[in-house]
Amino acid sequence: MSNKQATARGPQPVETERIALKARKVSFSWEDTPLHWVPGDPFTTHTINVLHLLLPAGERWFVHVYKQVLPYIRDERLREDVIGFIGQEAMHSQAHDEVLPHLRELGLDPTPYTAQVDWMFEKLLGDRTLPPGRATRWWLKERVALIAAIEHYTAFLGDWVLNAEELDRRGADPVMLDLLRWHGAEEVEHRSVAFDLFQHIDGGYRRRARTWATAFATLVFLWQRGARFFMENDPTLIDGRASFRDFHLRGRQGLLPSTGAMLRSVPAYLSRTYHPSQEGSTEQAVAYLASSPAAVAAVTAEQGTA
Ligand SMILES: [Fe+2]
Ligand SMILES: [Fe+2]
Repeated sequence: MSNKQATARGPQPVETERIALKARKVSFSWEDTPLHWVPGDPFTTHTINVLHLLLPAGERWFVHVYKQVLPYIRDERLREDVIGFIGQEAMHSQAHDEVLPHLRELGLDPTPYTAQVDWMFEKLLGDRTLPPGRATRWWLKERVALIAAIEHYTAFLGDWVLNAEELDRRGADPVMLDLLRWHGAEEVEHRSVAFDLFQHIDGGYRRRARTWATAFATLVFLWQRGARFFMENDPTLIDGRASFRDFHLRGRQGLLPSTGAMLRSVPAYLSRTYHPSQEGSTEQAVAYLASSPAAVAAVTAEQGTA
């Protein structure tokens, strides 16, 4: 057997310098952000706005599940990474949640949608009443695998938004761009944690493939529904609609991820040699985080009160 065959069996991490994960404080002020923060483009605005509907409950759920997994981690380094990940996701969840009152002030009340998302994460994907032992462990493993699949997409989106220069060219609101890029950069920075945890706890290929299919189908479903919800309830649009064609066109223009890139991400995750370190740039992420206006403002405010 050649060397290539011998090493091509499992996940192939790309060696990079290890960074201790820490949650960065941030401070955003939303009062100057317009309803259509991508000027003249409600569809792009609202498609990206779906993040504010899904992430507060979704990332709270990550934290809830990971706190239960901590006692099962037998690797100190991984445990530290998971603790850092928990801190970062808690901060992300809160930062997106803080956009919602602003949307409400602009006449777009997200509550009917977020109530359903909250139900999904808290009840459907919650702890359930299971007998202790095997069934409880099975459900925990299943959710750890689901989180790894979702994190494949948060890293994909993070990498995309860090490089989405077309949004700058179209004059997108700088505060919203900073929220997306600060969050996206931390997603790129911690992109390996959920996958490494899944490998450590279970790592079964069938579970990886099955939970990917569930996560992907659910994300597509929730996203198109969320975009439609915003378009239909936008007080400035008479006949707001969202279609796959709009999505595909914006992807070609660089305003949203392209359909092709999204399709290519599927075999990437399902490859037996996949490891999240193969995609995205830690260097780029860390460089952004060092200059993010919201992160810098929070540090300055802290130094001022110290
Ligand atoms: Fe996050
Ligand atoms: Fe994440």
